[in-house]
Amino acid sequence: MPETLGHGVSPFKAVREKVDVHLDRLLPPESLPPEELHAAMRYSVFAGGKRLRPVLAVSSYFACGGVGESIYDSAGALELIHTYSLIHDDLPCMDDDDFRRGQPTLHKKFSEYIAVLAGDALHALAFEILAESGDPRIVSEVSRAIGTEGMIGGQVADVQAEGRAVTLAEVEGIHRRKTAALITASIKIGALLAHAPDKVVEQLAQYGERLGLAFQIVDDILDVEGDFETLGKTVGADSRLEKATYPKVVGVEKSKQIAAQLIREAKDMLTDFPEKEIFLNLADYIIAREQ
Ligand code: IPE
Ligand code: IPE
Ligand code: MG
Ligand code: MG
Ligand code: MG
Repeated sequence: MPETLGHGVSPFKAVREKVDVHLDRLLPPESLPPEELHAAMRYSVFAGGKRLRPVLAVSSYFACGGVGESIYDSAGALELIHTYSLIHDDLPCMDDDDFRRGQPTLHKKFSEYIAVLAGDALHALAFEILAESGDPRIVSEVSRAIGTEGMIGGQVADVQAEGRAVTLAEVEGIHRRKTAALITASIKIGALLAHAPDKVVEQLAQYGERLGLAFQIVDDILDVEGDFETLGKTVGADSRLEKATYPKVVGVEKSKQIAAQLIREAKDMLTDFPEKEIFLNLADYIIAREQ
C-alpha cells in the first residue's frame, strides 16, 4: 500500500494533503506580526513530515463511524504538537541536531530563541484548536499524553539517561512516554470524537501503545542503519550522545525482533474490530518504513 514519494512524504497522501490544507488555514500568516515567529512556525510544519499522528486520528475517526470534516482540525493540532516537540528536541540543550525533515533545524535556520518560542506558540495554538472541538475529553487526553507522565516526562528521562548504562525496562519506559503516549492519544481522540464506545476506544488504545513503542524502536534502528537522504535527519546522532536506545541495550537484530513482535501484538488487538484494514496496513508500514 504505502507509496514512497521521496523524503518526508507521507504514504497516506490523501489524508496528508487534507491535513496540510487545514494546517495552512490554522497557522497565522507570515505577513502577520510577529512575522519572524510566524515564518518559523510555518517553516517547521511545512518542512515535510510523514503526518503519522494526523493519519492515525483521521483513520480511527472514520473507522469508528465519524462523518464530516471536523476531525481534520484536531488532527492538525496533533501535528502542531508533534512539530513543537521536534523543534525543542533538536535544540542544542537537548539532542543538538542540525537537520530535520531534510532541512536545517529551526534554531539553525532562524535562532535559538525563535525556535523555543515557535515551539511554544505551536503548542499554544494546538490547544486552542483542540478546545474548539467542543469535547473536553480531547483536551484532557492530549494534555496527559504530552505532560510530565507522558511525552515531556519521557524527554526528561531520555536526556537523563544519556551516557550511562540502562536496562531494557528503562528504555522501554522512556520510549512509551516520549513517543508512544502521543501516538496512542492520536488514535484515541479520533475514536472519542466519533463517539465510539469505551470498549472500542480502549481496544484502539491497546493497539496504539504497541504501535507507538514499535515506532520509536524503528526510529532507533534507523539512526543506526538509515540513510540521511531518506531520513532527513543525521544518522548516528544517538550513539554520539550515548542515548538510551534499543540497539544500544539489545543490539540491532534483537531490536528488530522486538519491534516485529510488538507489531504482531498490535494487530492481534484488533482481531474482532470490523474496520481493522487501515490499522493493519499502518502497522505493516511502520515496521517497514525507511523514513
Ligand atoms: C520523529 O517522529 C520523532 C519520533 C517520535 C521518533 P516522525 O518520524 O514521525 O517525524 P516526522 O513527523 O515524519 O518528521
Ligand atoms: C524524539 O525522539 C521524541 C520526541 C520529540 C518527543 P528522538 O530524539 O529519537 O527523535 P529524533 O530521532 O530526533 O527524530
Ligand atoms: Mg530526543
Ligand atoms: Mg532527537
Ligand atoms: Mg531518534
